[in-house]
Amino acid sequence: MRPIDLRSDTVTQPSPDMRAAMAAAEVGDDVLERDPTLARLEVRVADLLGMEAALWVPSGCMGNVIGLMLHLKRGDRFLAPAQAHVLGSELGTAAWLAGGMPEALAWEGGPGRPTPAQVTKTAGSPGPYYSLCTTLLCLENTHNFAGGTVTPQAEHRALVAAAKAAKLAVHLDGARLWHAAAALGLPPSALTEGVDTVQVCLSKGLGAPMGSLVCGSKPAMAEARRLRKMLGGGVRQGGVMGAAGLVALDYLPRIPEDHAKTQRLAEGLRGFGIAAPVPETNILLVPVPDATLALATLESAGVRTLPVGPAIRFIPHRDLAMADIEEALRRIEPVAHLLRRA
Ligand SMILES: Cc1ncc(COP(=O)(O)O)c(C=O)c1O
Repeated sequence: MRPIDLRSDTVTQPSPDMRAAMAAAEVGDDVLERDPTLARLEVRVADLLGMEAALWVPSGCMGNVIGLMLHLKRGDRFLAPAQAHVLGSELGTAAWLAGGMPEALAWEGGPGRPTPAQVTKTAGSPGPYYSLCTTLLCLENTHNFAGGTVTPQAEHRALVAAAKAAKLAVHLDGARLWHAAAALGLPPSALTEGVDTVQVCLSKGLGAPMGSLVCGSKPAMAEARRLRKMLGGGVRQGGVMGAAGLVALDYLPRIPEDHAKTQRLAEGLRGFGIAAPVPETNILLVPVPDATLALATLESAGVRTLPVGPAIRFIPHRDLAMADIEEALRRIEPVAHLLRRA
């Protein structure tokens, strides 16, 4: 039985047109000068996000740590929503490499979302010379571990305004910003307003084998290029990956299809009496009585998922059709009782 892989939107295979574009890519040496295909991709993404400049980096983690390194001095405190990827899933690089002291903000504005008042209160005002300096707010839209939740545009603006009033820079982890924009029916640039830097991924949901872009002002991106090299991310003929990224962007108009698959999966699970929430984007977190048991049972039934705390995570993606979601539901039905909470 072919497993239906719903662990992540990163498990996608490069499509035939993507592989063809990679094979035909015009390339240069991106350390010595600029790779022309990466340069094209950077212009396209900066434009999509309404930012001045962009820099390709191999991964989302590298994009985030570069963003943090640009804004933090050693010992500075930064604020981020609780369970943000930069807090719990990047090996502490925010502290280890960027020198930041993290402060998690509870989700008082909704799942994955702090309120502007929390930003103001936690940032406080400058104290005596020996006090901690808070210099950065790091947002995440969509918020992965809250279940792909979206920060709407007005809330984004208010969070940025609160940060600016407290003299904080703003970095946005937009690994799945595309999905937030699609869910709101807005261009991605509507959700970057006011940020100093943003990181977006091409390998999550869009199908590229690797690659993210960190975006900001031209001087910030010149410094980001130095930091990328320092972190071992200065690649040579990166245009092979840049070409994949350009094809990946063509998937943007189809993101709503993945959201529809996620909705259908949630609805089907609820039909079996499982406590599946209504997903906002492509991530579905289902609380279950025993995540280890549920995961193993689903795996033997031919449905692959990942545990996230007491829940299991399903992420439909471009390599799965709606028919695969229906097949996943058929496979889950006989074991559904193990996913039901008492
Ligand atoms: C919200 C978020 N930020 C950053 C990353 C890191 O991306 P990468 O795995 O490309 O380093 C991920 C990965 O899943 C993510 O979900």
